[in-house]
Amino acid sequence: MNALGQLIAKRIALQGPITIADYMADALGHPKHGYYMTRDVFGADGDFITAPDISQMFGELIGLWCVEVWEGMGRPAAFNLVELGPGRGTLMADALRAAKVVPEFRAAAILHFIETSPKLRQAQRDALSQDDIGWRDVSWHDGFNQVPDGPCLVIANEFLDALPAHQFQRTADGWRERMVGVSEDGESLCVALAPGPTPALALLPIEVMASNLGAVAEIQPTAIALTRTIAARIGETGGAALLIDYGYDGGQGDTLQAVRKHGFHDVLQSPGEADLTVHVDFAALRRAIGAAARILGPVGQGDFLGSLGVAVRAQMLMKSATKAQAKEIEAAHSRLVDPAEMGALFKVLGVAPHGAPRLPGFE
Ligand SMILES: C[S@@+](CC[C@H](N)C(=O)[O-])C[C@H]1O[C@@H](n2cnc3c(N)ncnc32)[C@H](O)[C@@H]1O
Repeated sequence: MNALGQLIAKRIALQGPITIADYMADALGHPKHGYYMTRDVFGADGDFITAPDISQMFGELIGLWCVEVWEGMGRPAAFNLVELGPGRGTLMADALRAAKVVPEFRAAAILHFIETSPKLRQAQRDALSQDDIGWRDVSWHDGFNQVPDGPCLVIANEFLDALPAHQFQRTADGWRERMVGVSEDGESLCVALAPGPTPALALLPIEVMASNLGAVAEIQPTAIALTRTIAARIGETGGAALLIDYGYDGGQGDTLQAVRKHGFHDVLQSPGEADLTVHVDFAALRRAIGAAARILGPVGQGDFLGSLGVAVRAQMLMKSATKAQAKEIEAAHSRLVDPAEMGALFKVLGVAPHGAPRLPGFE
C-alpha cells in the first residue's frame, strides 16, 4: 500500500469501513497525498486529456458563448464569471482570448475560480498571465457558495465527475452501501457491502429502489447539492451555467473508474496516484435543479459545439495552418464532436433563469 493507502487503512482500523464517497474524497483531495494536490495530471505526459487540451476551439467557443449570453442578459456592467475546477486554466485562457472581440465583456467580468489544489491554482495563474490573455485579476475559492452576490456565468468542464459518489447494491435483504475496508491479511483495501442500512441510503430516489437484485446505483450528493445551489443562484440573480461532463441521462450502475497514464487502473490499488471519477447522472442533476431555473438539455457535446460553429472555426484555423497542423486541427475537431469519441458520451446541461432568452447551443 502507498502512503495514502496506509493512512486510509489506519482510518478504517479506527472507525470501521468508509463509504466509497469518503474514499474518493481522500484519494482526490487529501491535503498532502490527494491526486489533484500533488501532480500535473493533464495532457499527453499526464494521465488524461480534457477537451480544452485537445483544442483551443473548445475554450474559444465557450468564451463566445459567454459573450452572447452576457449580451442576452442586457450587458450588465459587472458580473461573476465562475469556473469550477479549471485544471490548468486552459479553457478560461482560450475563452478570454476569444472574448477580446468584445472588450466591454472583459471589462464587466469578475473572475472566480473554484479550485482546491494549490498547485493547480498556480498553473491557472500562469495560464491567465500569458501575453495574449493578459488577465491578472482572479479570486480563488474552495466552494461556489463563496462567490459574491450578483449575476453569474458558471462553467464546469469535467468537474462534477470528480465529486464523491456513494455506491449501493440491491441484495436479497434490500439495498446496501458498498464500503471500503481492509483485506483479511491487512495488505490491501477491498470493497464489501455494509451489513445493514447506512445513512446515505436515504438519498436513493424512489424509482431506483425497485431495480433488480444485484443492481448497483450511484449517487453524488455533493454534485447534486452544488447543482441545486447554482440553479437557485441563477434563478434568483440571473446568468447561466454550462455543466459539461461524461455521463448518462439516468443512472448506469457502477461507473467508478481510475485512470492513470491514459489507461484504466485498479480503483483501490494506489489512492492518490490515479484519477478517480464516476460518470455523471444528468437526470439526477435535472431533478436537483427542479423548478429553480430553466433546464436546457443535456445535449451531446458534438451537437452543442456543432451548433456554436466548431466546423467553421476549424476551417478558419486550417486556412493559416501548415499541412501537418491542418491534420491535427481536423483530428481534434473530430475527437471533440464525433459520437464515437467525445461527441455523445460527453454532454452539456444548460441552466438559465425562467423567461431568459434560450441559451445558444441548445437549439
Ligand atoms: C478533471 S479536472 C478538470 C479540468 C478542467 N476543467 C479541464 O477542462 O481541463 C478537475 C478539476 O477540479 C478540481 N477539483 C476536484 N475536486 C474539487 C473540489 N472538491 N473542489 C474544488 N476543485 C476540485 C481539480 O483540482 C481540477 O482542477
